Amino acid sequence: MASVFKNLSFSSSVIPCIVPIFFSCFFIVSHSEYLSLTTSLPSSTTKISNVSDGGEWVLLHKSIGVSAMHMQLLKNDKVIIFDWTDMGPSNLSLPDGAACRHYLFHNRTINDCTAHSLIYDLATDTSRPLFVASETWCSSGALDANGALVQTGGYGDNGIRRIRTFSPCDDDSCQWVELPTNLSDRRWYASNQILPDGRVIVVGGRKAFTYEFYPKKNDESYDKLFYFRFLAETNDQGEENNLYPFLHLLPDGNLFIFANNRSILFDHSNNRIVKELPGMPVAVKRNYPSTGSSVLLPLKMNGVLSGSGLPEVEILICGGALPGAFNSSKNKIHVGASNSCGRIKLSDPHPKWVMEEMPMPRVMSDMLLLPTGDVIIINGASNGTAGWDAAENPVFNPVLYRTYESDPDRRFVVLNPSSIPRMYHSAAILVPDGKILVGGSNPHNEYNFRRAFPTDLSLQAFHPPYLGSLFAPLRPSILSVETRDDTVSYGQEFSVTFVLSVYRADPLISVALVTPSFTTHSFAMNQRMVVLDVALLEHLSTTAYKITAYGPPKNTVAPPGYYLLFLVHAGTPSHGVWVRVQ
Ligand SMILES: *[C@@H]1O[C@H](CO)[C@@H](O)[C@H](O)[C@H]1NC(C)=O
Ligand SMILES: *[C@@H]1O[C@H](CO)[C@@H](O)[C@H](O)[C@H]1NC(C)=O
Ligand SMILES: *[C@@H]1O[C@H](CO)[C@@H](O)[C@H](O)[C@H]1NC(C)=O
Ligand SMILES: *[C@@H]1O[C@H](CO)[C@@H](O)[C@H](O)[C@H]1NC(C)=O
Ligand SMILES: *[C@@H]1O[C@H](CO)[C@@H](O)[C@H](O)[C@H]1NC(C)=O
Ligand SMILES: *[C@@H]1O[C@H](CO)[C@@H](O)[C@H](O)[C@H]1NC(C)=O
Ligand SMILES: *[C@@H]1O[C@H](CO)[C@@H](O)[C@H](O)[C@H]1NC(C)=O
Repeated sequence: MASVFKNLSFSSSVIPCIVPIFFSCFFIVSHSEYLSLTTSLPSSTTKISNVSDGGEWVLLHKSIGVSAMHMQLLKNDKVIIFDWTDMGPSNLSLPDGAACRHYLFHNRTINDCTAHSLIYDLATDTSRPLFVASETWCSSGALDANGALVQTGGYGDNGIRRIRTFSPCDDDSCQWVELPTNLSDRRWYASNQILPDGRVIVVGGRKAFTYEFYPKKNDESYDKLFYFRFLAETNDQGEENNLYPFLHLLPDGNLFIFANNRSILFDHSNNRIVKELPGMPVAVKRNYPSTGSSVLLPLKMNGVLSGSGLPEVEILICGGALPGAFNSSKNKIHVGASNSCGRIKLSDPHPKWVMEEMPMPRVMSDMLLLPTGDVIIINGASNGTAGWDAAENPVFNPVLYRTYESDPDRRFVVLNPSSIPRMYHSAAILVPDGKILVGGSNPHNEYNFRRAFPTDLSLQAFHPPYLGSLFAPLRPSILSVETRDDTVSYGQEFSVTFVLSVYRADPLISVALVTPSFTTHSFAMNQRMVVLDVALLEHLSTTAYKITAYGPPKNTVAPPGYYLLFLVHAGTPSHGVWVRVQ
């Protein structure tokens, strides 16, 4: 931690104030209370522990009318949520006179005048139904550099090659836009990643062993497509196990791609595999339908700007299913999922997987980066695979993976359980106040509320432990972000003014940028966290401070777009504020 702040210098006014601040700290939250929160760890003999505050579940809405299969937070604190369009009506009406869709379903003509998408406003806790014209089932997405959602693929003639966009607006005028141009290949279960040049790469999909870019370059034909043998090779007979491949943009500009049980470093500009990484030492399938999840762990600058090197890069992949699990599920035998995680440091000259074990087996769990740099593993089941009625034994407890805990036996912390199963087609995203928005499960064929794992239309928020009241005095509160041209520019200084009632000098305050992910099928596409170098911390008045940080060094580290900026103080994140990086 200290090395992050090696360039840190204090203005002369800060030192004399530390004593009075600690003194007041004693009254607000006693030091021992604070320590017991942050260090109440399992004894070395138990692997699983409960923290004194294991987080809290809040039911926001019993029904939002659609099942949250896909979720994306936009730069105006609104969340776009949608399921599919050709599987029967939803529980959400469209306003009078809005368009209806007519299609054949089980030999019946359906006149569906319901909404299959909505925009949920976090600030007012209200939502507005949206009409989506084409079939979005198992599609993919990414925000572009302007903060508009580029949403690709789906199902059937009416969806599989579609490109839709949604641009955030401050009033109620914005709607889905269906583009006249189509994708070059059929994309059902593909993954997207925004690239340093602001374009989006779309990789894979069922029977689509290819990738392509959106938008195409000027000199490229509209149907330009790249064959990708790696996807053909990782496609298991009858089970696939390589859909929704895990994609992460690395700081050197290459992509990390994981499909089934193999992973590569890929130079997408030259259509070239740079390196195949070793296999994990356990025979587990990680991608749909053996759905595990994957995160690019926080990229910590650690003086990268002054040093000129690139940050260390680590990937964490958890959960999945054993070979044959999907076949078994078709016969109603739901075999136990995997409890294994693999973590690999790609910046090592000879990277290798280091295996860890979660407290319980999991498939179909979402993995989200928290502003603290820890990972929350949430939703999913302990038996079976993704797919319709292919799982049993929901996992109600989220698990915290403490990224920087050096003792592997203390890395996982089991958090408080929900009471709502979040099985196939559930989703979760991080929102600006540090909560996790959770929804969706089993839309089934037409909505079905009587099945064992019924269609779920509810929306919940999980409050991670850092939102507990004991942490409140430690929480920084951002007053303003001072940048040139409203932009955090690559390598340039900018400042954040904030207030803080109890200042603890160690660990110091970090400045983190987090991208809002497009989450579906347990994979948070485009999820990324960059921990910036800090130049200066100034003490302005009793509780006011100003921190000056350097923007990310370059667009391969942080592709252009809108990020949530969090200050993290003593394990406690501020509310995130939006900044534009370019
Ligand atoms: C965690 O808490 C639950 C519920 O309070 C309890 O059943 C379980 O035994 C606890 N686990 C540990 C390791 O203390
Ligand atoms: C959805 O609508 C159906 C039919 O009107 C109703 O039976 C069901 O209770 C509703 N479900 C929810 C979760 O609102
Ligand atoms: C639809 O109708 C055809 C011809 O009548 C029949 O063969 C088929 O089984 C029906 N499909 C469904 C899903 O009912
Ligand atoms: C794109 O796909 C739609 C739906 O399949 C089709 O109607 C349309 O003609 C296609 N557009 C182009 C430019 O090929
Ligand atoms: C990956 O899966 C393939 C196909 O099932 C299998 O042949 C291979 O041994 C597996 N490799 C590893 C590293 O698990
Ligand atoms: C799954 O079933 C298909 C046939 O449906 C078969 O070809 C394949 O070998 C099976 N895979 C495994 C891993 O059992
Ligand atoms: C879950 O998997 C375990 C281990 O394979 C098995 O013992 C158990 O019966 C399964 N449970 C269900 C509900 O399928």
